[in-house]
Amino acid sequence: MATRRTLLATASAGLWLSLADGWLRPVRAAAPLDPWNQAAAAAPADPRLRALLWAVLAPNPHNRQPWLIRLDGDDALTLVFDRERRLPVTDPFDRQLTIGLGCFLELLRLAAAQQGFAAAMTPFPEGSDARALDARPVARVVFGPGGQPDPLFAAAPHRRSAKLPFDMTRPVTTAEEAALRGALLDAASFGAEREAGGVATLRDLAWRAWVIEAGTPAAHLESVDLMRLGTPAVAAQPDGIPVWGPQLDPMIARGELTRAAMLPGGPGHRVMFDRYRPMIAATPAFVWLATPGNTRGEQLAAGRDWLRLNLAATAAGLALHPVSQALQEYPEMAGPFREAQARLGGGRQAQMLGRLGVAMAAAPPTPRWPLESRILRG
Ligand SMILES: Cc1cc2nc3c(=O)[nH]c(=O)nc-3n(C[C@H](O)[C@H](O)[C@H](O)COP(=O)(O)O)c2cc1C
Repeated sequence: MATRRTLLATASAGLWLSLADGWLRPVRAAAPLDPWNQAAAAAPADPRLRALLWAVLAPNPHNRQPWLIRLDGDDALTLVFDRERRLPVTDPFDRQLTIGLGCFLELLRLAAAQQGFAAAMTPFPEGSDARALDARPVARVVFGPGGQPDPLFAAAPHRRSAKLPFDMTRPVTTAEEAALRGALLDAASFGAEREAGGVATLRDLAWRAWVIEAGTPAAHLESVDLMRLGTPAVAAQPDGIPVWGPQLDPMIARGELTRAAMLPGGPGHRVMFDRYRPMIAATPAFVWLATPGNTRGEQLAAGRDWLRLNLAATAAGLALHPVSQALQEYPEMAGPFREAQARLGGGRQAQMLGRLGVAMAAAPPTPRWPLESRILRG
């Protein structure tokens, strides 16, 4: 096992200090997409670090990346929730963030198995609180011999949450639906709608819920506050909602695209409507996951299967896009929440809802903090 390597991030200065071997050494500031290349290319001797380089690429709400890792001894690690990364308005009970942590754990397990390691996981070893995640560990993971590589892992570098219109001339087939169901750990949690009338009903529900979120000041502001406007802002904070690229950067530099513009009545707010309305309309199928209850363990399990669903869709040439608004637990969303639970849950708790189809373009990767910044010292 490699010498334990811990890094201290002074992110505001864009400088990373390595504590490897007890010495402080400057490390090149990471570019926002570097972690995608590092996972495939870097080969630290410690199998936990090799697997963690993949795990930080997991899907997670608003790209908050709410994970912190403590390396324990030579063969174990503890996953801890970063309470600085809560979404108090749209995720008041940390349910969605817990699902994101489940995605992280499943990608960690698949990446460990790829190297021949079994990652044995104990969820919430010291218990949990249904109202909020706290300082207690989310999972304890022990690496041992015996992991069997899973073909799903091959899709990990290409997996995306595809916030794009899908091709309405290309339906999702029965065989594709069966392949997705077959990829899950708990096939009973899976639901799909491919029939035109049912899909139209869900499109309408997803759109109405989206409009409520965009028109609820506190919920909308939670998103606006997480926007990283322009490449320098994304590089300084590679999380949240990146608004960047060759077209947008000059507008941001000229002061034409600001946080104020994103508020109701502003031009950015209208642009968001103009982008989301046709996107949700261009949805040939929906898929969802629903669990018998709503315990923390079930939320983690839903996250593990969402990651598997996303990988299986990628492997099948399909795109998956979570649309979570109707599943969110704040007062203004109560109507769509009830409708969604009745239609998708059927007595169970609907945990995830996503658009499924063939995307009209390639979805770009999203930024990540480097793994080093998520490892706890001491
Ligand atoms: C529990 C959960 C809920 C999410 N809800 C939404 C959503 O409502 N709308 C959306 O566009 N993306 C949603 N996402 C996707 C995240 O925005 C995405 O995972 C994150 O930005 C990282 O991007 P990537 O998945 O392409 O790597 C959700 C992801 C998770 C795990």
